[in-house]
Amino acid sequence: MTPLKSKLNLFRQSIMQKGMHWLHRKPQHQGSNPYLEGVFAPVTEVEQFDLNVYGEIPPQLNGMLLRIGPNPIHVGNPSLYHWFVGDGMLHVLRIENGRAISFKSCFIETDVVQHTKQLPLKNGFRRGSNGVVNTNVVFHANKIWALIEAGTFPARLDLDLNTETHQFFNTDADLPFTAHPHKDNQTGYLHAICYDALDLRHAYYEVLDQDGYLIHFVKIPVKHGPMIHDCAITATDILIFDLPVTFSVAQLLKGSSLPYCWNDQHQARIGVLPKFGQANEIQWIDITPCFVFHAANAYRNEKNQIVVDLVVHQHMFKQSQQGPFEQQKAQLERWVIDLKALSIQRNVIDAQAQEFPRIDERYTGEMHRYIYTVSFDEKKMTAANQLRCHDVLEQRLTTYSFGEEWMTGEVIFIPESKLSLEGVGYLMSYVHHLDALPSKVVILKVHGTEMQLHAEIELGVRVPLGFHGNWVDFPQ
Ligand SMILES: [Fe+2]
Repeated sequence: MTPLKSKLNLFRQSIMQKGMHWLHRKPQHQGSNPYLEGVFAPVTEVEQFDLNVYGEIPPQLNGMLLRIGPNPIHVGNPSLYHWFVGDGMLHVLRIENGRAISFKSCFIETDVVQHTKQLPLKNGFRRGSNGVVNTNVVFHANKIWALIEAGTFPARLDLDLNTETHQFFNTDADLPFTAHPHKDNQTGYLHAICYDALDLRHAYYEVLDQDGYLIHFVKIPVKHGPMIHDCAITATDILIFDLPVTFSVAQLLKGSSLPYCWNDQHQARIGVLPKFGQANEIQWIDITPCFVFHAANAYRNEKNQIVVDLVVHQHMFKQSQQGPFEQQKAQLERWVIDLKALSIQRNVIDAQAQEFPRIDERYTGEMHRYIYTVSFDEKKMTAANQLRCHDVLEQRLTTYSFGEEWMTGEVIFIPESKLSLEGVGYLMSYVHHLDALPSKVVILKVHGTEMQLHAEIELGVRVPLGFHGNWVDFPQ
């Protein structure tokens, strides 16, 4: 990336935003949007200290619980707003020595946010179609990075969550990234399958080392500009989910803020690429049309087949152009990929609608036993909300309900200690009240499939239901 190219990108973003504003002004499109109301309603920035705690915060938890999600600073036409493109807001709870020290909500300081606040723009380079960064937040190369897919650069933040710069990690690469890189625990490298909304003919395989430098990059030929939200890694492979949600000019012309929709013409297929391999080494296997936002994990089994556990949506963006909840199945499945036979065997682990699968990430790329997901109702997204703990070895399931009036977001597993067994530790999540009472962070003690309430931390303010987060450990 060069300063000149960044300026040209900024100019293109401004033209596109003006075009979107023009489309959004059409009076016949005005209306409501469920993704701007109730648990989704945006909030203002806040910081508070010494929070009320019920129960006991485990003294070994010293660090930050980060979570990011959409929190639009301004919405032109609510009916055309898509949940995936709201300005990113970061939420952080700091815990030290058994105390909840502070909670802070602040915007990712993108150009739109800085313009709205009449503040100077942040350093770095600009890329992508709109500049929003709202999907995941990770700690890598000693920095906090807020991430999004489809082309916009990550935002680098300091430990007080001030946006320092917008750039492609510690490189000058001009590449799109993803919200879901996967860290190889053996090397500390991040492996990622990425795409660019402005390049419909390629996906990208990228590897960053532990210092945030790009050490491998491959362009993968695709058709129609597929949305590829996540990937999965084994010890030796990376999986590519090339599925039939693709870029849509028709949606763009309708003024949709997220111009992607279900495409019956797009062949659904899974690609298996050796880590650090080239595009011509990918083995593609066609599958029945479906959509995957998130994989829990993948590994090679004793038969050298690839096992991947993932949440499979029957379809996506077929009915709704405001968000991902549609009346459809979203079940937890196990796919066994046989590269010799070029076949995929699909088995249902749990047919309940659910999302946000996470594991004990010390097992990324290796055989895992436990998966933690969040359930929802297929007809009403705010109902049937439970944490589901799957033991895929013993085929057992336990659930934890946060109460009828509460809704949990993604749940994050933190091991009790570096040496503890898989699935022995804590589960933490931001939990949201359906009637707009202040949110809380809940800490459960987990041992296998047994879950017990350990502590609740009152945040004193609402946090909108959002996307992803991570625990950042600061050992004392
Ligand atoms: Fe995601």
